[in-house]
Amino acid sequence: MSKTSIVSMHVIRRLPSYYRCLKELQKNNVNKISSSELSEKIGVSESQIRQDLYNYGNFGKQGYGYDVIKLYNALKRILGLDKTYNTIIIGAGNLGQAIANYTDFEEIGFNLKSIFDINPRLFKIKIRDAKIMNINILEDFLATNKIDIAILCIPKDDAQIIADRLTKCGIKAIWNFSPIDLKVPDDVILENVQLSDSLFTLSYRLNEDDLFKRIKKEK
Ligand code: NAI
Repeated sequence: MSKTSIVSMHVIRRLPSYYRCLKELQKNNVNKISSSELSEKIGVSESQIRQDLYNYGNFGKQGYGYDVIKLYNALKRILGLDKTYNTIIIGAGNLGQAIANYTDFEEIGFNLKSIFDINPRLFKIKIRDAKIMNINILEDFLATNKIDIAILCIPKDDAQIIADRLTKCGIKAIWNFSPIDLKVPDDVILENVQLSDSLFTLSYRLNEDDLFKRIKKEK
């Protein structure tokens, strides 16, 4: 099982949208925001925001709202975005290359150190500053480079084997895009991303009215 968190995952999953909103407000030189305005912008109730933030301290004042810069800085710290991280990508195919080419992650402190693949045709190609290397040297590389996060972008068949190799080398955080439920040790943080889940939710919502019309008719 992957490492469990102190705070509920439902709360944690709302924090990035709070952070994005505060970042935007700060960029637009807004100094203060009422809890109702913040609630409207984020689409989460005032009490939910208050409860979520209460896990981390006292933010906002009755009758004043929130100090934008203070809350932005606090959320940055809470999300660990005040630090930098070294990352590697496993799998230099379509997805791996797309992530490697996405410069925004670098700008917020996620530094891509290397990319690994099994396809010899890709070895030595560089994507921005990161060289694509043979997966055979993964252990040697990890023995001499401090890597915080591994990003898994390989077909599901090999994903568990690679995850095992990564965790044996001391990797403590895996951002997994492979469509498989990975088993990792209890002290490893596993974050799965499935774009298809979001697409299926969109498709559900597109069809929800018809679905309930049909259900009503059938009752
Ligand atoms: P791709 O076929 O373009 O790339 C896969 C790459 O992994 C290839 O370069 C291949 O040589 C390499 N590879 C295969 N086995 C390896 C191993 N043992 N070690 C190192 N490298 C290895 O595939 P694509 O489109 O980039 O997708 C990659 C994975 O991501 C697939 O499992 C796909 O299902 C998944 N995916 C997930 C998404 C998500 O939302 N979670 C979205 C798109 C793709």
